[in-house]
This record gives sequence, C-alpha cells and structure tokens, in this order.
Amino acid sequence: MKKILVVGTGQMGGGIIQVLLQGGYRVNAYDAVAAALAALKPKIGKAFDKLKEKGKADDAQINGWLDSLTTCDSLEAAAADIDLVIEAATENVDLKISLFKKLDELCAKNTILASNTSSISITKIAAATKRPEKVTGMHFFNPVPVMKLLEIIPGLHTAEETCGACQALGEKLGKTVVRINIDAPGFVVNRILVPMINEAVLVLQEGITGADAIDKAMAAGANHPMGPLALSDLIGNDTVLAIMQVLYDEFQDPKYRPALLLKRMVAAGKLGRKSGEGFFPY
Ligand code: CAA
Repeated sequence: MKKILVVGTGQMGGGIIQVLLQGGYRVNAYDAVAAALAALKPKIGKAFDKLKEKGKADDAQINGWLDSLTTCDSLEAAAADIDLVIEAATENVDLKISLFKKLDELCAKNTILASNTSSISITKIAAATKRPEKVTGMHFFNPVPVMKLLEIIPGLHTAEETCGACQALGEKLGKTVVRINIDAPGFVVNRILVPMINEAVLVLQEGITGADAIDKAMAAGANHPMGPLALSDLIGNDTVLAIMQVLYDEFQDPKYRPALLLKRMVAAGKLGRKSGEGFFPY
C-alpha cells in the first residue's frame, strides 16, 4: 500500500492522517465540509510543531510529511489511483452506506475500502458495495497518535487477504493490532468501554455523586488514565450516544439503553471538548 485516501478529516480522520504521514505514506484527504478540509493542514502542522518542540521531529522530516499530504474537495478526484480508503466520517449508518456505495463506484477494483466505524456492522457497510470481500473495519482509538490499539474487523464476506493487508499496515504504523473474529456490535473495546461510560452517566443522573467525584473515583480506584465522564467528553458525547444506540438496537437488550442524561446533553449541544462543554467545561 502506497497511497491512501482518508475520508473525513475530523478528530479521528485527522489523527489517522497524522500517523499515516509519519509512517511514510502518501495521503489524500477528503471531507464533505469545506471548513473541515481547510482546517486540516494547520491542525496537522500544529501537531508536528509539538513533536518538534519535544525534539521528536525536525524541519526536514516535517516538511516531507506535509508534502505527502494532499487535500481534495471532490471525492471523485480524491478516489483516483488509491490503494486503500480509510473512511472516518460521522458515526451514522446511512451516511456510511451512501459513502461506500460512491467509493465502490469511484475506486479501482483492487482498492480496499476500510471503515473506522466504532460500532456499525462491517457486513452492513460492505453490502453497499460490489466488493464485500475487499471491505473491512480498521478501528483506531482516540487520540490516534497516542493510543496503541487498532482493531481489524472482517464482515461476513471479507477476504483474509484484505484483513491481512490492513493488519500489516497497522503494524508498520507501530500499532498493536487485535483481530476480531466476528462482526459484532462495538467489536471488543467499545462493547466493554462505552457501556461503562454510560453507567457513569447513570450514576451522575441518579445523583449518587458529582461528575468530579465520579471521575476522581475511577482514576484513583480503577487506575484509569482519565475518568469516564472526561473520556466521554474526549470521544464526543454524540459519538458515545451513537455507539450506545447501535448496541441497544442491534442486541435489543435493555442493558444497553442509553442514559437519558446523555441524550439530553447531546440534544443541548454539550458534546464535550469539541463543542467547548460537556460534563466539564473546556
Ligand atoms: N493528540 C496527540 N497527542 C496527544 C493528545 C492528542 N489529542 N493528547 C495527549 N497527547 C500526548 C501528549 O502530547 C503527551 O505526549 P508526550 O508523552 O510525548 O509528551 C502524551 O500524549 C500524554 O499527554 P498528557 O501528558 O497531556 O496527558 P495524559 O498523560 O493525561 O494523557 C491521554 C492524555 C493520552 C488522553 C490519557 O488521558 C489517556 O490515555 N486517556 C484515555 C484515552 C482513551 O481511553 N481513549 C480511547 C477512547 S475510545 C475510542 O477512541 C474508540 C471509539 O470508537 C470511541
């Protein structure tokens, strides 16, 4: 794999692009929102500046990485001559299905199409294409440059060769790759982590204690690097809600019902760090 297209340049897409550039890959970036695409190079430039301040990169390296990044406001042009697409758009099933349908029409027949979905079925996404054997899940974690894990998830029709190629890429990027056997909602980490965050919101909702105390307790009592409510703010409360909703809809099990408070926070625009306020102010 030499040339990679990343679709979606938000929090996850931006982080994925950064690690791909640092791994020596040429990256095309596309986002349907012009402002998000325009903000990408300055955002990545800032991250590289931080590496320079820490003595982890020099100007020559940084210029080389930035030269390997092109942004494109047309999906048609962006998809030409690409070995792998990593889709990191908003966690919305209809959006992802329509994107994969378009990508399938635009990309060369050998191009692998991967989704960074946090919970949506890879089989469902792959069914929007005529190449389900070349569609896989490549699930990175936030912040992508820091978090070691990459989950690789096959759909029902995904070829072993497709997963193997994505695993090899992840290993070249220095990630710890975990292969998932079955396309089940939330895969491994989000199946366990996101209901834990939802439970923390329920503890808050029930007034058992305050947000600061819940996070302090989980940091000091379970050795988590940050509390569950701060983590929800980092992931984005809208994304956490979307994942809970997928778990609930897919399993039809009440243990996955999203906390009412989480729904209300999202309705109020308290999305976490990205909106300036969530369970905590930023
Ligand atoms: N981008 C790049 N680097 C970052 C970063 C970011 N957004 N945030 C922190 N870092 C780097 C810092 O620069 C620092 O690097 P150095 O060691 O080289 O100096 C290092 O990470 C540690 O950062 P800090 O000292 O500022 O703060 P910290 O020690 O508290 O770590 C944290 C911050 C890495 C976010 C840590 O609190 C943590 O690991 N939190 C848990 C994160 C987590 O669980 N993520 C998974 C979310 S679930 C998910 O992503 C899946 C999904 O589908 C929703």
